[in-house]
Amino acid sequence: MRDKVVLAYSGGLDTSVAIKWLREKYNLDVIALTIDVGNEPDFSTVRDKALKVGATKALVKDAKELFVNHFIFPALRADAIYEGQYPLATALSRPLMAKLLVDIAREEGAQAVAHGCTGKGNDQVRFEVSISALAPELKIMAPAREWGMTRQQTINYAKRYDIPLPITLASPYSIDENLWGRSIECGILEDPWVEPPEEAFSWTKSPREAPDEASYVEIGFEAGTPVAVDGQKLGGVSLIGWLNELAGSHGVGRIDHVENRLVGIKSREIYEAPAAVVLLEAHRALEAITLSKSQLRFKQKVAAEYADLIYDGLWFTAQHQDLAAYITSSQRFVTGTVRLKLFKGKCSIVGRKSPLSLYSYGLATYDKGDQFDQSAAPGFIHIWGLPVRTQVQIQPLGEAEGPLNIMQPKKTGEDNK
Ligand code: ARG
Repeated sequence: MRDKVVLAYSGGLDTSVAIKWLREKYNLDVIALTIDVGNEPDFSTVRDKALKVGATKALVKDAKELFVNHFIFPALRADAIYEGQYPLATALSRPLMAKLLVDIAREEGAQAVAHGCTGKGNDQVRFEVSISALAPELKIMAPAREWGMTRQQTINYAKRYDIPLPITLASPYSIDENLWGRSIECGILEDPWVEPPEEAFSWTKSPREAPDEASYVEIGFEAGTPVAVDGQKLGGVSLIGWLNELAGSHGVGRIDHVENRLVGIKSREIYEAPAAVVLLEAHRALEAITLSKSQLRFKQKVAAEYADLIYDGLWFTAQHQDLAAYITSSQRFVTGTVRLKLFKGKCSIVGRKSPLSLYSYGLATYDKGDQFDQSAAPGFIHIWGLPVRTQVQIQPLGEAEGPLNIMQPKKTGEDNK
């Protein structure tokens, strides 16, 4: 009996060649596992292809609900955006895939798991750190990193073994997509000076061609999780799918990011993430009325940590559990509705409300009904300014270098004589 390997199978060129290669080179039975995170509509074709190429078994797992509820929504509640730009679609999917690979490997009695990543990217790190945390006993194989074939050699290999070439081969770009977004790399995009050609985009209309009429949308949140659109309850998968369509049709969600990869290189990535952009904006707008100033400030730091942790492949860590506990607690009053306007590539918040809002009209208004006690302000200012007055009397300003030099005109050489 042959040893078995479970391969994360996308149906693309590299993983198709990998099925054959693992069989030829290591004499393994290959179980192809295709994971649906909202990427490809036609999984039965992918499955058939795996079998045709030589997999002994081909499994398709619908992981959309898992992906949304256990990966996307936690990241949304955290406001996780890598380097202020990337909503982390690919990065979030990898730990889920790692978990499913491990589950299937155990069910099938496989000794190894395999992925199709090269040795230059982040995904290999995310897969392998996660797999080895969950199942240290499993061997991890990375054929595309090991075989050392150029793209052309890989194509030749495919032709030699009668492996059907994917139609996407004509495209100069390398694409990864799931519910939370689409990433586009390679080709002309590798020159960070070049504006991405229109053909690189597929989820978003060019803002120029977007409708002249704005769309308004209301998103309802409960404890930081989006649960309704325009007053209608909607499950997470449908809500995200629907928003991708609507916001994408208005040209919302294009991102051009020169990012710092985990392996030390900078790479230029284009993303389309209409639903992610809209939901992240909306969520932050709701937090702005339901969290205090200090909660908001501290949470921003946690968000940056959390985004790095996701990007860096550290999903299955104690640090993650600790941050997640804070984030969950922070969301207990983040309930309410946000109103957005989508227009010509832009998503603007135009309204927000919550039964738990900390915004008080009575305190904010300059009209009648003002409840703010202005007579208390002098006492507040007196105490607030106390340390400032104390210090300036003992340590006069203007002696140190810096912006306050305006206090003392610079002496010229003449004066110094
Ligand atoms: N740069 C992004 C990330 O590291 C996207 C990677 C896309 N992955 C891929 N295999 N094409 O998360």
